[in-house]
Amino acid sequence: MTSPWWQSAVFYQVYPRSFAPGSPGPTGDLAGIEQHLDHLGWLGVDAMWISPFYPSPQADFGYDISDFCDVDPQFGDLGTFDKLLAACHARDIKLLVDFVPNHTSDRHPWFQAARSSRDDPHRDWYIWRDGSPDTPPNNWVAAFTNESAWTWDDRTGQWYLHQFLPAQPDLNWANPEVVEAMHGVMRFWLDRGVDGFRIDVVHGIGKDPALPDDPPELAGIPHSALNDTPQTHELIRGMRRLVDAYPGDRVILGEVYLLSTELVAQYYGAGDELHLAFNFPPLLTPWEAPRWRKRIASTRRNIDDRGAWPTWVLSNHDNARHRTRYGTEDRARAAVFLLLGLRGSPVLYAGEELGLEDAVIPPERVVDPGGRDGCRAPIPWTPAPDHGWGVDDAWLPWPPDPRARNAETLLADERSIAHLYRRLLAARKASPALQLGGAVPIEAPGDVIAWRRTADPAGQAGPDDRIVAINMGPAPAAVPIAGTVLVASDGTGEDQAFAGTLAPDHAVLLAPDA
Ligand code: NOJ
Repeated sequence: MTSPWWQSAVFYQVYPRSFAPGSPGPTGDLAGIEQHLDHLGWLGVDAMWISPFYPSPQADFGYDISDFCDVDPQFGDLGTFDKLLAACHARDIKLLVDFVPNHTSDRHPWFQAARSSRDDPHRDWYIWRDGSPDTPPNNWVAAFTNESAWTWDDRTGQWYLHQFLPAQPDLNWANPEVVEAMHGVMRFWLDRGVDGFRIDVVHGIGKDPALPDDPPELAGIPHSALNDTPQTHELIRGMRRLVDAYPGDRVILGEVYLLSTELVAQYYGAGDELHLAFNFPPLLTPWEAPRWRKRIASTRRNIDDRGAWPTWVLSNHDNARHRTRYGTEDRARAAVFLLLGLRGSPVLYAGEELGLEDAVIPPERVVDPGGRDGCRAPIPWTPAPDHGWGVDDAWLPWPPDPRARNAETLLADERSIAHLYRRLLAARKASPALQLGGAVPIEAPGDVIAWRRTADPAGQAGPDDRIVAINMGPAPAAVPIAGTVLVASDGTGEDQAFAGTLAPDHAVLLAPDA
């Protein structure tokens, strides 16, 4: 049986402002991405998803969209996009764009019309409620501001809902015209040839029509991390039918920011909702073996065991990079074995292959209302003072130590973390067990997690299996596994028999002895 491409694919996220400029400048753009596709090819990733590049006032750096079917001039135009897409396909790299269905910018013509009058035909495209100007309709809290998720509109005397900034009003997906218009947006990009969508806060789009208060014990948690309604599942099934009607296994990879793998799993439906869902509890898990063991088991129980396919992600544009969270390069190196060794589709975040840390952002350079500037620092491509950007200073400060920690320098050094990513990606591509096989935990000492990837999807051991072992503890650990080391997180002992001991914060991939 053949599996869809996205099941064995390794995804790579590009945050376009921070990746690379096509011509000298402080912000990246679509031409800059195209110029750096060699880097993706060198690494060996299969698919890229790009954060929003649509026209936007940039209140939330592109997640506040004023036209879903165009390109913001700062990133290029539709012609530049088509060129990038063709260049990706010429290299056999799939391209997903970010679909943001929950909200528009308050500058979107739909919202401008909606707020112009209570009688405007677009009024009901957003969520309005009566009330008095000092008491919001319910206790929902917006992300980033931690203030009410409702803003009073003076002119028309009603509240409107926004789970994010006031400049990001929520669309009313209970209105069939909204569904049709947003399906039109999906068709627009699918017709251009994209391979699918990363879907922003997809669990947020359906609302309980009664808009009930969040429980008092959860008060203060942004409603966007709690919204979980049956309406949303029906809406996702509609998107899925639309996407599945296109040829070529187009994929929807949904951001389900609910911090329970059990809840995330519901968004795969009965194989009729998301093809893939981000599962963030592992991303928020510290570098501790017992905690990781539980996360892996919970993913298996909730996602694999329902016949769905998990994803693994440790960094993105919304969270401190895992190199920063875990504290050392040794740990960042060992963490690649989680991403590329666990069963599911890995999603890498541009720059993690360079072992980048978050930039330190002095107060006068803070620009993001959500405090996420550090992980969005520009990628240093070269050791030169402009790091390949043609300007001394990009839109955010460089990550630490860019003279040594840049793509050119690390690619020239075979011992670098970039080469480790590349070797592990190649080992994965060469192994059906790692790409699509089963996964069986191996008993190991307390700080070690180990598992066997079996070529047999059901977990029966066989000659083409692989073993992954990671020591998350502070002391060397003896690990009861035998085989040839294919990849080691510190690069030592590769192609030799495993010596039986793992150093602290080290990992290996083995071909087990028969
Ligand atoms: C999730 C995105 O990843 C984040 O960057 C954005 O701010 C919110 N959704 C709102 O669109």
